[in-house]
Amino acid sequence: MGNNAPSGGREHWSGQLGFVLAAAGSAIGLGNIWKFPYITGENGGGAFVLIYLACILLIGLPVMLCEIILGRHTQKNPVGAFKALAPKSSLTAHLFSIMMLISGIALICFDAYGWGIIFLLTSFMIFKYGWVIPGIMSVFAGFIILSYYSVVGGWTITYFCSSISGSLSFQNSAEAAAFFDTLKVNPLTCSVFHIAFMVITCLIIYSGVRKGIERWSRILMPALFIILMALILRGITLPGALDGVDFFLRPDFSKIKPQSVLTALGHAFFTLSLGMGAIITYGSYVSKNENLFKASLSIVGLDTLAAIMAGLAIFPVAYAVKINPECGPGLVFQTLPLVFAKVPLGSFWCAVFFLLLFIAALTSAMSLLEVVVSFSMDELKWTRHFATIVCGGSITLLGCFSAVSVSNWKNIEWLHSMLVDIFNTSQSSFFDFMDNLGANWLLPLAGLFIALFTGWIWGTKKAVDEMRNGSQNFADVNFFSFLAGLKDDPGHNSRVHVLTLASLWGIFVRFIAPAAILIAFLHTAGWIKY
Ligand code: PHE
Repeated sequence: MGNNAPSGGREHWSGQLGFVLAAAGSAIGLGNIWKFPYITGENGGGAFVLIYLACILLIGLPVMLCEIILGRHTQKNPVGAFKALAPKSSLTAHLFSIMMLISGIALICFDAYGWGIIFLLTSFMIFKYGWVIPGIMSVFAGFIILSYYSVVGGWTITYFCSSISGSLSFQNSAEAAAFFDTLKVNPLTCSVFHIAFMVITCLIIYSGVRKGIERWSRILMPALFIILMALILRGITLPGALDGVDFFLRPDFSKIKPQSVLTALGHAFFTLSLGMGAIITYGSYVSKNENLFKASLSIVGLDTLAAIMAGLAIFPVAYAVKINPECGPGLVFQTLPLVFAKVPLGSFWCAVFFLLLFIAALTSAMSLLEVVVSFSMDELKWTRHFATIVCGGSITLLGCFSAVSVSNWKNIEWLHSMLVDIFNTSQSSFFDFMDNLGANWLLPLAGLFIALFTGWIWGTKKAVDEMRNGSQNFADVNFFSFLAGLKDDPGHNSRVHVLTLASLWGIFVRFIAPAAILIAFLHTAGWIKY
């Protein structure tokens, strides 16, 4: 245990608020501020927001509850949690392992040696660890995702410093793009700021759950919402700003394609930090008397609020100064400095915006590092301080590869040829390789297995028993009585009603969430097309 652990036990949040703020800190990240606004703009504004809300409620919320329950029940990191609950031997796992073995042999026969060996190793791992694999995948995902997330975190520091020093006042989009491109291809700057970002993250995690994560979440999350509010007020009071609100939120159902639904689903997953063990880990610090239903609703609510506020902070300013907001990754780092350059006191507002982005990235990075640190503390019996230094150090080192290879392989050509030799496919940079591995593969697969495990292997019965701790009658409330505001009326809550919140949750976890995640995954992997 770390130095701040109460005697004899795992450290816990000081209460519901501490947990909600920390988990919302994990959830609210670059995804909310950078990605949500532009995918909304691209996919039919308000119409897309409706689909996104449905995905959040129908898939995100049930899976988030799974993760919190797994964490709180076992009081362990993701690997420990699955180890504690997984059956000693599982037919499904063995079948899966045999399937991987056969595919591995087939791949080797077709000369795809790299993939063949990966399949064989995976088959062996599944055979040995069975249902602990989703836990291992989550910790691995946390490791991989943080290594490149912190590179982007480093850019937020670069942009913040540059806006303070006034070097972000661009006259045209070519200048803004040139600044961003120079930054991306400069290995030294990228690495230095990536390391700086990681050092700050490590310092917070080093201080423990309450004194580090919770204390800083209590300061940073209100700051984030205050900054968002200030930016919205600034933007919306500029002449012509309402066109931006119109672009962002006016429902345009003609822009909705089947793919929009999958985009919404994938984003719902990423934005709630599901599938990489962050919520399992944070859930393991929740004490038995907290209401998990209410906590997860608050986390999901705050995350969605932040995403919508971010859109309202960005588009109105862009429209007011008549810059067509580029709908793509360049939005935040290229278009916004240009936008702010045309607003009175622009460099001040620009600095405020990048401070917001930095806070959002930092609180998410904290949760990713905590996954790996809590794994090392529980499973390898390291102290928090040692674990933070070793895990933080190795993630920083791995991240340096992403930092020197953001948009091409120029600086690490040897690694590129090695990866091409092994996998026979090529990504445009190491950064993209990591992003693809973490966000497109590990995250949905781990999420899928988490839902399947809770729904079918461990079982919803035990999960609901865990949910009942601290939730008064919440799990057993009749769904319609709840909607009608009659949940405390005894006549509306008798046991003959089977459609309770818990039963509804069980149905989603067993059937709907796994099916939806699987379809989205197969689509991202390119195995099915719309
Ligand atoms: N939820 C974060 C975001 O929206 C991303 C994240 C992913 C954070 C994984 C932690 C873990 O940006």
